[in-house]
Amino acid sequence: MAKLAVLITLLAILGPVACQDTSVCFNGWLRVLNPASCPRGSRNNFFTRQRRPAPSGPGLSYGYYNNRGSFCPRAEGIVRNAVKAAVDQNPGIGAGLIRLFFHDCFVRGCDGSVLLTTTNTGNADTEREGPPNKNSLRGFEVIDTAKAAIEAACPGVVSCADIVAFAARDASAILSNGNIRIRVPAGRYDGRESFANETDQLPGPFSNLTQLQDTFSAKGLTSDEMVTLSGAHTIGRARCQFFNGRFADMDPALAAKLTAQCNGNDDTNVNQDDVTPNVLDSQYYQNVIDKKVLFNSDAVLNSSETIAQVTQNANGGGAWERKFERAMENMGKIGVKARTDTGAEIRRVCWKVNSA
Ligand code: HEM
Repeated sequence: MAKLAVLITLLAILGPVACQDTSVCFNGWLRVLNPASCPRGSRNNFFTRQRRPAPSGPGLSYGYYNNRGSFCPRAEGIVRNAVKAAVDQNPGIGAGLIRLFFHDCFVRGCDGSVLLTTTNTGNADTEREGPPNKNSLRGFEVIDTAKAAIEAACPGVVSCADIVAFAARDASAILSNGNIRIRVPAGRYDGRESFANETDQLPGPFSNLTQLQDTFSAKGLTSDEMVTLSGAHTIGRARCQFFNGRFADMDPALAAKLTAQCNGNDDTNVNQDDVTPNVLDSQYYQNVIDKKVLFNSDAVLNSSETIAQVTQNANGGGAWERKFERAMENMGKIGVKARTDTGAEIRRVCWKVNSA
């Protein structure tokens, strides 16, 4: 409590300057008194404007588990069944699985680090504990179920990182009623480390457009891919604390509905897309135009730099769906580990490294 009081006093005294410390803004995850006080060039944008080369995913190939040396032809079917069973019961888990893939790939690459509860160095303050993930990510049990069945069929062959990627693909197919078919090359190896503080590489709901572009750019993804992938906010849920400061900027009818749903409680969850909450479709872009999105990071896509893409995506006809397929495949190539990399393994259990 005493520490919190000191922090609040410091914020009041330092004002805008305080936000130049990531620990305060955490790349747009922590609400700040004055959002403009997280200026470009501050530690929040330590990723810099320079775009990294597009992710190449060395070592990945389609049908990887049909190959000699990595033979487990049933792997993808097992994941599909586990995802289908879970999503049939609760479509929200499908949303959770798509987000799990994003949060895995943006931190240490797509290496299953988001799944760990303890690491090679015995660290328990893993990515799962980071502000974007704690009490928020869901779908872990689907990955564990699929992994257990795969280990029974072909032990030590299929990585948890690949299972996360397959699960996101399958959840996307189901929630889009078959309209989205992502191609997922495989061959990712699992990492052995995971740190909560590294989740500050994920963009946050209070991010402005520059921060969003910088964060994606640091992973080799374009601004257009950022706009495309944000369309995933057409499914799933969000907590009131991330948008209850911006009701005045929303469509008044939606704002009134959300105010009632939140009822002053920061931790209440609401649907992200009020129109088609459980369908992975292009409705999100119409919502951006109609001011029916929740986060600042969604609303800023209405800016002059990105509105053309938003309008195009909103027009339907499958254009967004095709772009989403490609962007998800690309995201799955970020920082992948190969067998020969130090600290790479095929985990036997997805939430712990092999020696733990
Ligand atoms: C562009 C920057 C992004 C920001 C700032 C952002 C932020 C957030 C936040 C704050 C939530 C709600 C978490 C909670 O209240 O517990 C959320 C939910 C979600 N996000 Fe994002 N996100 C971004 C991009 C993405 C991307 C690229 C994807 C996937 C491709 C994605 C998929 C989802 C999904 C599916 C949910 C709902 C999860 C559930 O219901 O369990 N987001 N996001």
